[in-house]
Amino acid sequence: MRILAIETSCDETAVSILEADERDTSVSFRLLGNALLSQIDIHKEYGGVFPALAKRAHAENLVPLLAATLEEAELLRESAQDIPEELQTTISEMLTREPELREALFAFISECERPNIDAIAVTHGPGLEPALWVGVNFARALSLLWDLPIVPVNHLEGHILSSLLTETGDRSYELHTPAFPLVSLVISGGHTEIVVTHEFLSYERIGETRDDAVGEAFDKVARMLGLPYPGGPEVSRLAALARTEGHKSPDTLPRPMIDAPTCDFSFSGLKTAVMYLLKAKGELTEAQKAAIAREFDDAVAEVLYKKTDRAVREVGARSLAIGGGVSASDNIREVFRKKIAADHPETTLYVPAKTLTGDNAVMIGVAGYYRAREGAFGSVETLSANGNLSLTR
Ligand code: KG4
Ligand code: ZN
Repeated sequence: MRILAIETSCDETAVSILEADERDTSVSFRLLGNALLSQIDIHKEYGGVFPALAKRAHAENLVPLLAATLEEAELLRESAQDIPEELQTTISEMLTREPELREALFAFISECERPNIDAIAVTHGPGLEPALWVGVNFARALSLLWDLPIVPVNHLEGHILSSLLTETGDRSYELHTPAFPLVSLVISGGHTEIVVTHEFLSYERIGETRDDAVGEAFDKVARMLGLPYPGGPEVSRLAALARTEGHKSPDTLPRPMIDAPTCDFSFSGLKTAVMYLLKAKGELTEAQKAAIAREFDDAVAEVLYKKTDRAVREVGARSLAIGGGVSASDNIREVFRKKIAADHPETTLYVPAKTLTGDNAVMIGVAGYYRAREGAFGSVETLSANGNLSLTR
């Protein structure tokens, strides 16, 4: 099955084409085309994602990215096409809020043949709703123009499946179904959740943040330290520097809810504690800043591990997956690798390839393949974006 995947839930516009092949006990995925545009430069001056700008950038980027992906996959055949008037009217209505996209799409479609693709997978939530809508409407329009089924994908399922993928070569992956129960820790800019899976593709949430997401806490602390957006990688880098150079903070930060008898998290108190600590300290040397970043990074990793450890024990997990943007953190990966091996040697730990930790369309294509295999197609007429879409349907 050949899948075109589209991701626009936040500040990354991504399009991929994947070829999925079912094997005896696994599925292999070959990446035929892949294009991604990050909007970091656009949002940097605001210190965070500015939804209206994200929406416009997605609308401007999607057609060029689609063209690049098809070209890379050698699926682009130029030839003049007629778009029936009725179809033009329907699609114009569908894309009234995305005029840049509409013009570019008509121009592109009228010049190329329908590619040899079987389905379109698109993220329909959770995320920034105006951003999600651009991808959803683009997928709906393409579905009508090329007569292809649409598979709506939950962004968080994409993150979870991306950690179960094994890289088998240059642009090829394999997914073996993990042993269940599987516990998944999703840590991103918008989410911090622990979910349990007893049966492939079904999820039960057993823990979540009561306030800020981990990535959000990283980004806010970065801003307090005067580091650029997105702050997570910057704080991680500074913390790593403090570890190699031996800078340690004399003040400890709280580990919120670490001993609470639940799998829930809270990060806003930790963020506020950093704020008060910085206020109390006044001018800081680079070494002191790095030491605070390290202490924050350690506090986060400890809390994440403790809650996950609780979840693994509670459900008797045979597999553990961590995924989402924050799973790029070397410190978090290291803490989990060491501690899981020591505390739960019988549990297999899955972490995503570094290239798949942030938002991307590869993971959306993978999730789309499994959902398509189940026949979970969406309707072009009624498919909508849902910023608060939950994994536990
Ligand atoms: O999954 P993602 O790309 O987007 C969302 O779905 O939210 O996650 C982005 C988040 C941002 O908050 C970013 O600062 C954080 O992941 N992040 C990191 C690292 N790389 C990205 N946080 C800590 N350490 C990193 N190395
Ligand atoms: Zn994400």
